[in-house]
Amino acid sequence: MIGQFFVDRERARAAEDPWAQLCVLASLDGTCPRLRILVLRDLAGGLGVFYSGHSSKAKQLELTPQTELLTYWDSIKVQYRLCVMLAPLSREVIDTHWPRRPAISKALDWLYETVPQGSVMDAEQSLDALLAQSGAEESPPPGASGAMIEIVSLERLQLQADGKHLREHFDLATGARKTLVP
Ligand SMILES: Cc1cc2nc3c(=O)[nH]c(=O)nc-3n(C[C@H](O)[C@H](O)[C@H](O)COP(=O)(O)O)c2cc1C
Repeated sequence: MIGQFFVDRERARAAEDPWAQLCVLASLDGTCPRLRILVLRDLAGGLGVFYSGHSSKAKQLELTPQTELLTYWDSIKVQYRLCVMLAPLSREVIDTHWPRRPAISKALDWLYETVPQGSVMDAEQSLDALLAQSGAEESPPPGASGAMIEIVSLERLQLQADGKHLREHFDLATGARKTLVP
């Protein structure tokens, strides 16, 4: 069923689903779940995400690297809920992919070195002024970060026009595949 995830993602891409490249990743801020959209990337032969090591999510995910990742592709009416284990991206992967990032993403990554993502901006500060002072370079800053995603288990929900949706759960460790009440 893990293969089915990639087949479905290809179907969503072919259908130009605007969510085909995206996921929602959860983390825990104390006991409060936090969710955010990230680009779900093909990295180093697997799945991965890029984010700033200075961000709130980076700190939260470091503390609880097992979490849930969600995708929904409306073009094919399929939802996946993945139970995942995150492992820090190697410097090699970051060095390979960072140069291909859009210029503004690179500039922001450098800004985060001195002004972390999520910092409160003073009323008189502008993002343009902060970026101008950020001292961006053409190499990734130390805080450029992210995670490789190991899928532990997954649940696929295929919506049906008649409402009798198909819900399946697959555990990668045991290979157990179960049909669940939708
Ligand atoms: C379409 C879309 C794609 C995004 N992709 C990323 C991404 O790949 N990496 C990232 O760090 N933030 C991405 N974001 C921003 C995050 O959703 C989030 O606002 C930001 O990372 C701050 O999260 P945090 O405060 O939980 O650390 C994206 C947002 C949207 C709407």
